[in-house]
Order: sequence, then structure tokens, then C-alpha cells
Amino acid sequence: MLYDFNEAKEHLVNSYGVLEPIISYGDGVYLYDTSENKYLDFTSGIGVNSLGYNNEAWVEATTKQIKTLQHASNLFYNPTTVELAKKLTESAKMSKVFLANSGAEANEGAIKLARKYSYDKYGEGRHKILSLVQSFHGRTITTLKATGQNKFHNYFFPFPDGFDYVKANDLEDFKEKATSDVCAIMLEAIQGEGGVIPLDKTFVQDVVNVCKKKDILIIFDEVQCGIGRTGKMFGYNNFDVEADIVSVAKGLGAGLPIGGVLCAEKVSNVFGPGDHGSTFGGNPVAASGALVVLDKICNENSFNEISEKGAYIRELLIQSKNPQIVDIRGMGLMIGIKTKCTPSIVQKECIKNGLLILTAGKDVVRLLPPLVITKDELKHGIDILLNILDNIK
Ligand SMILES: Cc1ncc(COP(=O)(O)O)c(C=O)c1O
Repeated sequence: MLYDFNEAKEHLVNSYGVLEPIISYGDGVYLYDTSENKYLDFTSGIGVNSLGYNNEAWVEATTKQIKTLQHASNLFYNPTTVELAKKLTESAKMSKVFLANSGAEANEGAIKLARKYSYDKYGEGRHKILSLVQSFHGRTITTLKATGQNKFHNYFFPFPDGFDYVKANDLEDFKEKATSDVCAIMLEAIQGEGGVIPLDKTFVQDVVNVCKKKDILIIFDEVQCGIGRTGKMFGYNNFDVEADIVSVAKGLGAGLPIGGVLCAEKVSNVFGPGDHGSTFGGNPVAASGALVVLDKICNENSFNEISEKGAYIRELLIQSKNPQIVDIRGMGLMIGIKTKCTPSIVQKECIKNGLLILTAGKDVVRLLPPLVITKDELKHGIDILLNILDNIK
């Protein structure tokens, strides 16, 4: 059953820029390839594996659930999914949740929810969704349209109507675009794929104030920066504002597919039977894993540790005074390092030296290590990265 890289390519659609090692298994914060080479993982499978690999509690909970009930559909409640809905809404300080399977699906649900809220209250025509230039919200046709990067708006025409893009941190641009046909704005507290760019606190607060006055719903896309990643439950909790709708996915599942549309009281009864659905949404096995994530990650102690570890990385990077580093951005364990050299070259060199990292855009090295990583493990990885930056031409 061992495949080599070229053989693998023959069978899978070539829509990703796949990197060389074929990953065989993981343990702790390390991944191993099919030749038993070991890699320290600063990617968490793009922000998913918050508990690392082979986490005892997570493996036990999901294995127990798979033996008990793997799926029952949403025609019936099951205790595990209900327990997750209860605990997730409590941790998020939201009223209800619609459970889905991925970030894009959660954002689709959030967009539908915002449009129906507006339709029910104001009738037709008030359906526009604002998002930010340089945002990323998913790969379905609608979430691609919500994604504020032109490079994604090719080939797949026609895209749905009713979207417009505001320049990040530009209040005047927002005010101009917050016209009477707008029902919601969708924001990432830290733009992840767009280059690890945090929003300004005052911009977010001002936007929220205007939205409250105009009854424009605030949707935070917390797919990448939520569930503890920034050292708080959600990225937007760093801005002292409230959300009407929050989409989550990635780190909530810790490796199994899950997504969620969290609803504040105001929108919690907008969907009625038949308005929205998903066969696999809220799958009990994924839900049992997510309950472990809430237990281990979503508490003050763990949030503080994540913040401390983020500050530690930042300190190591600043102290190095490495001339390749132009900027260090992000919060908690979501770090973007703008480099003079090409991040994809840095990434390839890191792999050769046993470290997996991500990139974001053309000039940013992105780090999303498992949230349970230790400071020693972080130091080890940052040493490898700095050494590569020192020697790169
Ligand atoms: C902020 C944000 N929203 C949505 C998505 C899409 O999530 P998924 O790939 O699970 O559909 C991503 C994925 O990177 C993301 O970073």
C-alpha cells in the first residue's frame, strides 16, 4: 500500500500544491513520513489538529463514539451532538448552533441565515453581504464570491449577486458601502489565508456600532482564528465586541470534519424546519472529538498558555534580529512572518530540516502549531526556521 509521490498524483485531482513527504502517521506534535522521517508540525493540518496527534482523550472519546453510534442523521437527536451544542454555545456565549462539516459550509449557512433574517424582517432586496478585501471564506461558489480576492473570481462564472468588498481598517469605505440593501458584514478577526493580517480594534468597534444602528448583522468567520487559536475563545473576543453570527470549523474538530454556525438570540429562531440542512452535519463521532477540544482548550488556563506561547515565539523572532524578517503579525498561536525571501522556498528548506510550516500569500510564512505544543518544542522549531532564514540567499 506504499505509494510514491508521482503514483499518488495519478489518482488524485491536481487542485492542490502538494508538498513532497507522504505523511504516514502522527504522534504528539510530530508527523512521520512513509520513510520514517520525523517532522515537527507547525501547521496542525492548516489549523485543525489543535490537540496534536494521537491525543489520548480525543482518541478514546472518538473510538468509544464510533463503537456506539457513528451517525443517525438530523432526523433524530443523539446525546453526543446535543451535548456538543450545549457546551459549544455556552463557551461561545451564543444562543444556538447549526452544525455542519466544514468552514465553507458554515459560512454558507451564515450567509443564508443573515439573508433570511433580513427577508423575514424587511422583505426582498436587502440581501447584500459585505466582506473585506483580502478575506478568505471558502471554496464553494458563494463563499468564493464572499472572498475578497480577485484571483478567486475567475473561471467559475456566474457567481451569485449581492456581495461587495470593504477595505480592511478603512471606516470611510465601510460607511460608503453600508447601503440600505446590506444585511450583514462578514469579518475574519485575523485574515488568515490573506496574509495573517489582524484587524484594528477601533475599526472593528466602529463597524459594529454602525451595524447596530442599521441592523446590519455582524458575522465573524472564526474558522481559522477561533476555538482558542488566538488565546481567547474567538479572535473577535480580542476586540471587545459582540457578534450576531459566528462560523467555526477547523480546530473545533481536532482532525474530524465539523463546522458550526453559532447564532446569537436575535437570529436563533430564523431557520425553521426545511430552511437549512446537512446530512452529515453534527456527526456524533466528530462531535465527541469536539467535546474533548472544548474541555482541553476552551478554558482560561489553556487560553493564557496559548497567549504566553505566542508571546514566546514573537520574543524569539524579535531577539534574533534576523534581516530576512520584515514584520511579525498575528495573535496567540496564529503567527505570520513577513519575509524578504520567498516563503515557499523557506517552506521547502524547513521540510528538509524536519519542520513543517505554512505560507500565506507571496511573502508571509504562517505558523499554526498544535495548541498543546510546549515551549521547548516551539523553541526547537523556531531555531530550525531562523537557521534557514540565516542561510537563505
Ligand atoms: C477564515 C476561513 N474561512 C473559511 C475557510 C474554509 O474552510 P474549509 O476549508 O473547511 O471549507 C477557511 C479555510 O482555510 C478559512 O481560513
